[in-house]
Amino acid sequence: MTIQATAGPVVEARDLVKHYKTGGETVEALRGVDFRVDSGDFVAIHGPSGSGKTTFLNMVGCIDKPTSGELLVYGQSTATMSEGKLATLRRDRIGLVFQVFNLIPVLSTYENIEYPLLLQGVPRRQRQERVRKLIEAVGLEKEHRRRPDKLSGGQRQRVALARALITETHLVLADEPTGNLDTETSKRILGIMQSLNENRDVAFVVVTHDPMVGGYAKRTLEICDGRLSRDDVAMPADRIRTEAS
Ligand SMILES: Nc1ncnc2c1ncn2[C@@H]1O[C@H](COP(=O)(O)OP(=O)(O)OP(=O)(O)O)[C@@H](O)[C@H]1O
Ligand SMILES: [Mg+2]
Repeated sequence: MTIQATAGPVVEARDLVKHYKTGGETVEALRGVDFRVDSGDFVAIHGPSGSGKTTFLNMVGCIDKPTSGELLVYGQSTATMSEGKLATLRRDRIGLVFQVFNLIPVLSTYENIEYPLLLQGVPRRQRQERVRKLIEAVGLEKEHRRRPDKLSGGQRQRVALARALITETHLVLADEPTGNLDTETSKRILGIMQSLNENRDVAFVVVTHDPMVGGYAKRTLEICDGRLSRDDVAMPADRIRTEAS
């Protein structure tokens, strides 16, 4: 399977709002976010702890639903999609790297990376070829049999990245993919992302505290108190003019 370029934006969000209700309290985690990602984009989103970065990725990755606002993924509105359709969209078309890696503890490096292909029913030979190639790309040949508890943080992070990339989606969302990694490993992971972005048009949205990520991105946005710095790409020209005047 090769990555097909898609026409139009990969993600479009308009006025996304997310409120969490805990006890009697409401947390306004996102307060009206406009955002757009095109094919081949590489966006870094910086922001302090608690500013809404993970919440934002959970919305875009269709893991959680916004309180209000509109979200289109590959041109399809997610608001009216059934749970089944959302699950298929997540499985086949969005690569996710979580802040906590969510690796399956009883599976080896190889099996963790292979897992999404099993869910997709990809035949064994193809699975083998793709997993081997990716294991080599992230430099985990020696660790391919090891379970997550026998890997370092950086190695686990690379397994998580490889698992997000294995389905050859056109959109990868990564939450702090270089969090707690040494500079060399961070560079290696970012280099893999950059090469996929440039050579295969994979769009990346990376939320992070790490200023180094900005050096690899084509655009950098800030999120603060649930508001994203104005994303000119997401704003129709007339609206930008109106706000500027
Ligand atoms: N499930 C939840 N229930 C209630 N409040 C939540 C929930 N998830 C997040 N929040 C709150 O929403 C706000 C945004 O949280 P979020 O996890 O998006 O921040 P973040 O920018 O990812 O932070 P960090 O950099 O620490 O990972 C915070 O005030 C947080 O406490
Ligand atoms: Mg977070």
